[in-house]
Amino acid sequence: MLIARRPGPLEERAAELKGKHGILVKTIAVDLAARDMLKTIAAETEDLEIGLLVYDTAYMLIGSFFEHPIEKQLRAIDVNCRGPLTLAHHFGQKMIERKRGGIILMTSLSGMQGAPWLASYGATKAFNIVLAEGLWYELRGKGVDVVACCAGAIETPNYVSSKPRSLGAFAPKPSTVEKVAHEAVAALGRKPLVIPGGAYRLSQTLLERFMSRKQRMKIMAGSTEKMYGDRLITLN
Ligand SMILES: NC(=O)c1ccc[n+]([C@@H]2O[C@H](COP(=O)([O-])OP(=O)(O)OC[C@H]3O[C@@H](n4cnc5c(N)ncnc54)[C@H](OP(=O)(O)O)[C@@H]3O)[C@@H](O)[C@H]2O)c1
Repeated sequence: MLIARRPGPLEERAAELKGKHGILVKTIAVDLAARDMLKTIAAETEDLEIGLLVYDTAYMLIGSFFEHPIEKQLRAIDVNCRGPLTLAHHFGQKMIERKRGGIILMTSLSGMQGAPWLASYGATKAFNIVLAEGLWYELRGKGVDVVACCAGAIETPNYVSSKPRSLGAFAPKPSTVEKVAHEAVAALGRKPLVIPGGAYRLSQTLLERFMSRKQRMKIMAGSTEKMYGDRLITLN
């Protein structure tokens, strides 16, 4: 079951997956920020056993927190917090009844400390880390695995189209989508949080070991300034 807003790309991807793997693929075109999204998704999945929930999408505002209207800031809460919490609650309950299932919440290294110029995005990503970790503990021994996939940059269409400048030769290179997906699935049942990519894992370990939170925020601010300069980009 694939969920996104635009029916066209959804159908294309569904056809690709059917052709490649010979599997049944259904789609739901819905905005995950919509108040009634659970009603739509619950109705469409009523007769299906959803074994693995991957909440991938996120809404990100780049730039000063105050330059974006409050409606957009609240959309980040709807897509990035209300969405995963609602779907984890709905599908998680069914998984508990079956004593089997998995939940992957996509999150970001920008949720590991304050993220200047991505303030609300970083805060929502911290929400997902803490939500996944809490659920991981609660569901241990119940057959349901939960993991927060806490990624650095990934070469997704959105990331590429935002045209970020390079952070230099010593910064970790953006991961491929396949690598992140593979490491997230491999971490299910093994740990509550995974940072895909050895270079990102190492840099986060060093940052946490040798830098204060204040210093890490400064590094985060510097990276975003370097990548996006003065540009104010609204993704999605
Ligand atoms: N890309 C990175 O560098 C990076 C780094 C760290 C973490 N992450 C995390 O990785 C995840 C994926 O990021 P991404 O870069 O692929 O971009 P994204 O915009 O979060 O994901 C794109 C996909 O989500 C769908 N989508 C977007 N908004 C939606 C909405 N309101 N309702 C339903 N579907 C929606 C899009 O299709 P439609 O437009 O058709 O809806 C598209 O299929 C996010 O959680 C992000 O925080 C990404």
